[in-house]
Amino acid sequence: CGITACVGGDDAVGGLLTGLGNLEYRGYDSAGIAVPDDRGLNVVKREGRLERLREALGTDRPTGSIGIGHTRWSTHGPPTDENAHPHQDCTGRVAVVHNGIIDNYETLRRGLEERGHRFESETDTEVVPHLIEEELTAGKSTEAAFRAAVDQLSGSYAIACLVDGENEVYAARQGSPLVLGEADGRYFLASDVPAFREFTDRVVYLEDGDIVTVRPDGYDITDLAGAPLAREVDTVDWEPEAAGKSGYPHFMLKEIHEQPESLRQTIHGRIETFAGHVSLEEFDDASFADVERVQFVSMGTSHHASMYAAAQLTARGLTANAYMAGEYADCPAPIDENTLVVAVTQSGETADTMNAVRRARDAGARTLAVTNVVGSSVTRECDESLFIRAGPEIGVAATKTFSSQVVALTLLGERIAEDSTGVQRAEVRDLLSGLGDLPGDVQQVLDETPAAEVAEALYNCDAYFFLGRGPARAVALEGALKFKEISYEHAEGFAASELKHGPLALVTDNTPVFGVITGEEDLKTISNLKEVQARGAPVIVVAPESLEGQVEFADYFLPIPDTHPEVAGVLANIQLQLVSYHAADQLGRPIDKPRNLAKSVTVE
Ligand code: G6P
Repeated sequence: CGITACVGGDDAVGGLLTGLGNLEYRGYDSAGIAVPDDRGLNVVKREGRLERLREALGTDRPTGSIGIGHTRWSTHGPPTDENAHPHQDCTGRVAVVHNGIIDNYETLRRGLEERGHRFESETDTEVVPHLIEEELTAGKSTEAAFRAAVDQLSGSYAIACLVDGENEVYAARQGSPLVLGEADGRYFLASDVPAFREFTDRVVYLEDGDIVTVRPDGYDITDLAGAPLAREVDTVDWEPEAAGKSGYPHFMLKEIHEQPESLRQTIHGRIETFAGHVSLEEFDDASFADVERVQFVSMGTSHHASMYAAAQLTARGLTANAYMAGEYADCPAPIDENTLVVAVTQSGETADTMNAVRRARDAGARTLAVTNVVGSSVTRECDESLFIRAGPEIGVAATKTFSSQVVALTLLGERIAEDSTGVQRAEVRDLLSGLGDLPGDVQQVLDETPAAEVAEALYNCDAYFFLGRGPARAVALEGALKFKEISYEHAEGFAASELKHGPLALVTDNTPVFGVITGEEDLKTISNLKEVQARGAPVIVVAPESLEGQVEFADYFLPIPDTHPEVAGVLANIQLQLVSYHAADQLGRPIDKPRNLAKSVTVE
């Protein structure tokens, strides 16, 4: 989701609509604004793209000088007018926009309902205006009421709030991005700089725990207790035209760099590392104890995430297979009452995957959707859903959604294995701690990657091959898919064991071979890489940094931080995403919109 606020000037609505337009890349399933003027507090919100909000506002727009706005990417409750932000309290005085997830909203909501508050939406956000209302009714000032409400929240949030008849916006940041823009006579708050870049290049990057009060003539930043904080004003070095991409030349590169944040959202509230426990609120009332067989159905990048998950589940003693959904729909695998069919689809709309779901459902399987889009077709047709919470992805080539799919499927797999075997695996703590470290490890890869140099050295070859075994095979296939779809170069992924049974005939000194190694488990891949090197092929190894000594033979090394081997695949894949990106960039390809491809394929 994206939030924005505008304080000062004479056209808050114009400022908010510009901001929301530039933040649409953060979510576009509903949008809304709240602007007080002499007619009272005007709250207008609509399900759908921003255009629907513009139509609803018409020509008789509110004339106020302050306002808040929101563009939504649903996490709780489908996209509807009611679930769109801003949300309000019972009196209609308070309006709130929020990006993030409030973990304790169910408890807060129960308490508020017991105290007589009535709720209009299914969102976690709506508790916030009611909490503020309660504090205002108790006689607190608006600022004190806002602090007291924020103090009760746990989870991640960037929140902006205003109260009818007042001339300030209050905001808080904890775990979700929030920046302040300083223009002449006008201030802005937003989830990201593009919202207000065309009005100013002066930015304050707020930090977790910051509370900010913005007035038309200035702002104060304090901690929750009210102690003043000093934050520097930075100048952004990119032009307004790059808005939406936050200064990145392509959405794909931006989305690759968003992975620390998107993965944080994926795992948020879902792992209890100390207890070694996976907590998926979607399945609080469900059990997987009867599941004996898991069939994943999916296409493209989602199929590779499914292959990764199937390899993990097989290693946990379950019967698990990843089917290409288009094949499964034509020739479904045998299903019985103990079969769980998991549809993995970023968009939730892929026709082949939907057909596979229907075939599975008709045959009596339990169906579960793993998707990024709340309210998508797959969530309506499956019995249950698990959301990967990666945020919207604009680049046709899937990047951050693959990482979030793998992580969400890892958590799901752990839960299925625990229920169906009745025992918690001893190793689970290590895995969960690796997942907890993953956002930081991804940041390290992004900060230190030599991918651009590798791509520059190798972008003009005859073909590119990618090898891996076990879950790393799925990463090799995904590496090849990414490479071919955006560079238009011939790229293929193989199981490392398959090499000698055909693909080796293709290897020359002009066919670089990438080897994906996730830990001691798949070191055997090294001998396959030496076989191709002996035929003259340049070898690029992606492997944990501690294995550097064992892969010194390689021509290029793309190191990843040492971690649990099942988490290492995500890091290795990010190195390959970066190589593909830079190779395609060297070749001048239209990276965000490769020829002949579409983000969501809704025909068979
Ligand atoms: C298309 C896209 C791919 C995507 C695949 C499956 O082919 O170009 O990037 O992986 O569809 O999409 P889904 O939305 O089901 O994950």
